[in-house]
Amino acid sequence: MPTYALSINGQRHTVDAPVDMPLLWAIRDLAGLTGTKFGCGIGQCRACTVHLDGAATFSCQIPVSAAQNREITTIEGLSDEDLHPIQQAWIDEDVPQCGYCQPGQIMSAAALLAQNPDPTDDDIDSAMSSNICRCGTYNRIRAAIHRAARGAAQ
Ligand code: FES
Ligand code: FES
Repeated sequence: MPTYALSINGQRHTVDAPVDMPLLWAIRDLAGLTGTKFGCGIGQCRACTVHLDGAATFSCQIPVSAAQNREITTIEGLSDEDLHPIQQAWIDEDVPQCGYCQPGQIMSAAALLAQNPDPTDDDIDSAMSSNICRCGTYNRIRAAIHRAARGAAQ
């Protein structure tokens, strides 16, 4: 079985994995970082969203072999400090319900704000529309993104 060197949250992980193993399972089962969730496995829900070189990426849709020599960031490594501003905004807006989709939502939102620090509602809907929430927390997600954007502007 091939060995891969992955950089996850600034730390090197050496994993033995089948060449076609989705990055999601390397992160969860081999690196032991279970904040990234499995929802559908077919690129339809974005529960598995991580950042690959800063871009929001479905980790269920990319093989571990394609993630070598790239910087992978998961929800556990989103902030060097206690909480990323988007996580604080999530708390302030009381966003989660069951919580299952929320790591993916937060990773997508953080990638959006890194690209667009003051998104409109349309920008948010466009960037976040593929992140499915079965609990329907969409309005609170939008409010939290605006709150984080305001905080960053102060
Ligand atoms: S688990 Fe990856 S998109 Fe659903
Ligand atoms: S908070 Fe339950 S699926 Fe989104």
